[in-house]
Amino acid sequence: MEGPAEIPVETLALVHSLSVTYLADGDQPVRALDQATLEIRSGELVGILGESGSGKSTLAAAWLRLLPADARYDSGSIRFRGRDVLALPDSEMRRMRGAEIALISQDPALSLNPVISVGDQIAEVLRAHVRMTRRDRRTRVEELLTEVGFDQPRKIYHAYPHQLSGGQRQRVAIAQAVACRPALVIADEPTSKLDASLQAEILSLMRDISHRHHTAFVLISHDPTVLAGFVDRIAVMYAGRIVEEGSTQDIFRRPLHPYTQALVRLSARYLANAGARTRFGAIESEPSDLSLPAAGCPFAPRCPERMQVCTERNLQETIPQPSHRVSCFKYDH
Ligand SMILES: Nc1ncnc2c1ncn2[C@@H]1O[C@H](COP(=O)(O)OP(=O)(O)OP(=O)(O)O)[C@@H](O)[C@H]1O
Ligand code: SF4
Ligand SMILES: [Mg+2]
Repeated sequence: MEGPAEIPVETLALVHSLSVTYLADGDQPVRALDQATLEIRSGELVGILGESGSGKSTLAAAWLRLLPADARYDSGSIRFRGRDVLALPDSEMRRMRGAEIALISQDPALSLNPVISVGDQIAEVLRAHVRMTRRDRRTRVEELLTEVGFDQPRKIYHAYPHQLSGGQRQRVAIAQAVACRPALVIADEPTSKLDASLQAEILSLMRDISHRHHTAFVLISHDPTVLAGFVDRIAVMYAGRIVEEGSTQDIFRRPLHPYTQALVRLSARYLANAGARTRFGAIESEPSDLSLPAAGCPFAPRCPERMQVCTERNLQETIPQPSHRVSCFKYDH
């Protein structure tokens, strides 16, 4: 595997040309990440956008070294605050997780323990990483519960997950994730199980926390409308690759990749139809089969602008402007 990439000073985290394959028994290997590169700076709000199966959760899990046993890191590197994440000893990785990088999952009902009070679960994160007395820990948990919007933190401390609503559980998961003031929080579809108004509340809470504590957030979603009001920059994933990356404004106003253009068109249609309370849908035709080694552009079978070269040559990243990069032969001059 190649060595870690050089890292600019202001960069907080850098995933560089990372490839990951799942080797599930009896199945074809699945290349879930294919040379994915993404840089996060301190305090930034970055979105990862892509339809189901594009590799978003694999990227999140790879970042924290939480991939399942059937996954293999093929190549590339992950750096966090200058350290080579893939080379860290397990003990150092456990220390980093929770203290410096935290993950919020889609369904807190699964990540929270049903038989431990939510206050004790947040306290446990503090106990693992911060030296403080029991009493101070308790006070700190109540402060965190207040920070995430509970007006009776003492009462909530003793509640069990099943006694809380979905939105309340997600607030608890956020309190748990930010308890040690990590520099980076990766939130994997944290609002996809919530209705639109709760979704907006949770996103605004995460934005407040980011601004107050200069915490970088990576928000993962299949829905461009969720990212639109929250992140400053969006990386679009397709078939395990980052096919386009740019400012939120550029991605919505000047999308370059035909796949991004399809997602943005779909989101405009969805917003125009918002009164109908439909969920954000999927673009027509099936996603690529990741078990097939794709020559050329993986979007080619679905692309309305496909050219002969698209299936013949391997695709390089093109950078029309320093802040807007895309992988598509249309821009390969
Ligand atoms: N444990 C696993 N074993 C084998 N294949 C897997 C495993 N986990 C994920 N995959 C495959 O890897 C690819 C990427 O999956 P991943 O869960 O990262 O996508 P995603 O973008 O998060 O999708 P979703 O929006 O549905 O959560 C998919 O083809 C998926 O089927
Ligand atoms: S490289 Fe070709 S097939 Fe791929 S998105 Fe661009 S135009 Fe479409
Ligand atoms: Mg996922």
